[in-house]
Amino acid sequence: MSAPRIAPSILSADFSRLGAEVEAVAAAGADWIHLDVMDGHFVPNLTFGPPVVKAIRGACTLPFDVHLMITDPDRYAPAFRDAGADLITVHAEASVHLHRTLQLVRSTGAKVGVSLNPHTPLSVLDHVLDQVDLVLLMSVNPGFGGQHFIPAVLDKIRRLRARIDAEGFEVDIEVDGGINSASVFKVAQAGADVFVAGSAVFGNGNYGSAIDELRRLAREGQQARGGA
Ligand code: DX5
Ligand code: ZN
Repeated sequence: MSAPRIAPSILSADFSRLGAEVEAVAAAGADWIHLDVMDGHFVPNLTFGPPVVKAIRGACTLPFDVHLMITDPDRYAPAFRDAGADLITVHAEASVHLHRTLQLVRSTGAKVGVSLNPHTPLSVLDHVLDQVDLVLLMSVNPGFGGQHFIPAVLDKIRRLRARIDAEGFEVDIEVDGGINSASVFKVAQAGADVFVAGSAVFGNGNYGSAIDELRRLAREGQQARGGA
């Protein structure tokens, strides 16, 4: 388990000045930039595609963590890599041949993530955990920022952490949805490494203090887990 990383989701940023927003959260201490790509099919919302990722790539040097909430990840993953994605996460529910999709993402040179919706069982990972760098557990139903954290996901995080540690995989656990100062401690205590936060960062007038507080609470949560 590694030091907590905070990944602000630009879904809650001011889209009229996206480059400046990315620059601002980078200067405020973000570890990764989380980019939510939605296609209006896999989720009931639309955001942006590779040209926007490319346009803001120059705003910072932090890793671009691209979360594809789209029905056809095989078709678009290479374009997101070309646009500057460092990590590409696909939804298990969106891929009929998940193993093939993960290999395709790997072949682009990007790091590989797989995401599970709140109701999707961990058993979906049974034969692909050795193919990924990261598992993204959704703690809201994907599509929108500003929703409430679903507490049932805490046990899922715990069970995934135990499995990764027992099997000796080097796989990060990222948690996305409803992460704020009220939920982040428990999420870290359950075993997460990477914390996506949209409204908790961009909805706060001071990005630096929002990120610092999330990181501090995440560290405390990880320590509480260590001591448990
Ligand atoms: C939801 C997205 C999230 C979202 C999180 O579908 O995947 O990344 O931006 O937003 P908050 O942190 O506001 O729940
Ligand atoms: Zn996301």
